[in-house]
Amino acid sequence: MTVLAKFIRLLVSLGCGEATMKTSSAPQGLAEAPDKTAPVVDLRSDTVTRPTPEMRRAMAEAEVGDDVYSEDPTINRLEQRAAEIFGREAAIFVPSGTMGNQIAIKLHTHHGQEIICDERGHIYNYEMAMLSAFSGCVPRLIHGEDGILTWAEVKKRIAPKIYYRAPTGLVALENTHNMAGGTMYPPEVADEICDGAHDAGLPVHLDGARIFNAAVALGKPVAEITRKFDSVMFCLSKGLGAPVGSLLVASREFIDRARACRKMLGGGMRQAGILAAAGLIALEKMPARLGEDHANARFLAEALARVPGIKLDPSRVPTNIVVFDISGTGMTTAELSRRLAERNILMNGINPELMRLVTHMDVDRAACTRALEAIHEICSSR
Ligand SMILES: Cc1ncc(COP(=O)(O)O)c(C=O)c1O
Repeated sequence: MTVLAKFIRLLVSLGCGEATMKTSSAPQGLAEAPDKTAPVVDLRSDTVTRPTPEMRRAMAEAEVGDDVYSEDPTINRLEQRAAEIFGREAAIFVPSGTMGNQIAIKLHTHHGQEIICDERGHIYNYEMAMLSAFSGCVPRLIHGEDGILTWAEVKKRIAPKIYYRAPTGLVALENTHNMAGGTMYPPEVADEICDGAHDAGLPVHLDGARIFNAAVALGKPVAEITRKFDSVMFCLSKGLGAPVGSLLVASREFIDRARACRKMLGGGMRQAGILAAAGLIALEKMPARLGEDHANARFLAEALARVPGIKLDPSRVPTNIVVFDISGTGMTTAELSRRLAERNILMNGINPELMRLVTHMDVDRAACTRALEAIHEICSSR
């Protein structure tokens, strides 16, 4: 047995000491050959989670009505709870995080304006250029260290108020930052950006798809770490485990306008209380277990950092996303993904050199150990 294999076993047998796991963390035998019958370990994203039995029961029994008439009692309850939890006047349920972000961008801006955001941000890279296509804006990009912007950097990008320069219309942050590896804003850094932007007359939107991960890692309520933003979008359908849905929270006036905008986009759903029923469980109960995902991500990061050819700093893995450089293994991420998939381990690259894995409630410590063993086996067989 190689030193790394022994190390993985040792970590597993110690349970890595960080959190209570859903299933046993007993040492697993190291695989001798690809096991194609083993259950799939899906580390591609926390969007792959399946609703829990409790969510499915709640969905089956949900009280529903026509939400376009605001008559769905379960949606109304979900929106009210989201507003309460975030300390806001109102909230609106939307089918996806993308729609929540893009409604907010539309409402905050005018055609011909600039939006200051991070260059690896979701709103810029993965929302189908909607900030231009729908809102008529262009991004003014910043490379944030670990995806985290600072007021000093933002301030420099605000357009001077000169008639021949497109004005800045919005500052948009992402917390946690997906592609930068689940990194989070120190609350004082986000607060300073909001204060500075407000003083400059600019609104600030938060893409908080995984804001509960940030809150758990910081040990602070979501209301506290988001209080200065003008609007916050968060997802129920990622680490919180709901099958569908996100919420946008803000002032009553903003959410009333968001309702019309959601309808324009075809997002006025009818008896969607069936979805909101699962969402309520996601919102109320699932944040409490996110620490488990963070502990698993750290467990993976610590072991991966010792695999020859893999570069990563485990101390920069604060939540459930691990991004690591495999260029030293001589493989591309496409090749590693393919070879892992042969062993029923799913994980994607974000470019030819950087792999990303995301822990979530459907991947326990034993599954993480299987993934590690497979990576180790593939990397050491080259
Ligand atoms: C940071 C971030 N924002 C927004 C979204 C969009 O969410 P959805 O897939 O529900 O549109 C995602 C999805 O992965 C995300 O990671």
